[in-house]
Amino acid sequence: MEFKQVLGRRRTIRFFLPFRPVERAKVQKMLEAARRSSCVGNVNNTRGIVIWKEEASEALIKAITPPLGYQQMQTAPCFILWYHDTDAYEIEKWIQDLNNLADTRRIGTDAEQTKGDIERMLRPVFGATWQQMAVAPLAFMDVGNAVCQALLMAYDEGLGVCLMSSPRLEQVASLLKLPETAIPMCLMAVGYPAESWEAGGQTVKAPFDSLFHEGEYGKPFKQDVAVDEDLKRDGFIQEPAPLAWRDAELKYLEKALGLNSTIIAFPAPPAADEDGGSE
Ligand SMILES: Cc1cc2nc3c(=O)[nH]c(=O)nc-3n(C[C@H](O)[C@H](O)[C@H](O)COP(=O)(O)O)c2cc1C
Repeated sequence: MEFKQVLGRRRTIRFFLPFRPVERAKVQKMLEAARRSSCVGNVNNTRGIVIWKEEASEALIKAITPPLGYQQMQTAPCFILWYHDTDAYEIEKWIQDLNNLADTRRIGTDAEQTKGDIERMLRPVFGATWQQMAVAPLAFMDVGNAVCQALLMAYDEGLGVCLMSSPRLEQVASLLKLPETAIPMCLMAVGYPAESWEAGGQTVKAPFDSLFHEGEYGKPFKQDVAVDEDLKRDGFIQEPAPLAWRDAELKYLEKALGLNSTIIAFPAPPAADEDGGSE
């Protein structure tokens, strides 16, 4: 698929073919895409644990189940738990990662001078701040970057994914034996879509000029309609949701996959006035 088409086709998939396994090779490609993403100082702080539903314990599946995940948890054959490892920022390792960039001629024009600059100028600053940097917004953004690359690789390989937030992060950390330096971030359901690839149409987003500015805040970056036409031609901008036949597709999916119509994966606590004194 062309790159812009991959971007255009990407939308969250929530119904998967439960009987169709995801090839290990495709998951490897996703992980490889995450590994090769851009990140601060090339510290490689993004980590993932692949969970095959068939092999996972009931306790683990329960622990990774997010509240808004009924359809995904019922149908996806594979999950990836993505986490941030703060240990990637440990000062000696960080300095070594920067030196490696110098040695491989990825930063600076003179390796020895660059390494000297790192030692003299960066080490004192990073030495004083690395623990804060390890939990600063940029560190988490880098996990997002990596997860996004894995996600796009999945779509290019004909798979669909749904990112989900998991509420039982401590349980997940202990069941998966994560190190203490790990901060679990999100769960990704991976599988072959049971939905048509359109999945009801392209997800509708906030208006362009409400999001982006030019020069200063409050001066919207103006869209050129000719650019939108280019992007439509390239398959990046597609028919918006909901397509006319989406309701029929959803009814079909519900029946074919034996699902009910909830989106909630486990019962919410009863509202005070519904409690009726029960436990
Ligand atoms: C970090 C993150 C957590 C999400 N958590 C959930 C979730 O728990 N359940 C769910 O159904 N969708 C979840 N989503 C999917 C979003 O609802 C979806 O991305 C959003 O509606 C935009 O749709 P699109 O991905 O098709 O563009 C999550 C997405 C992200 C990025």
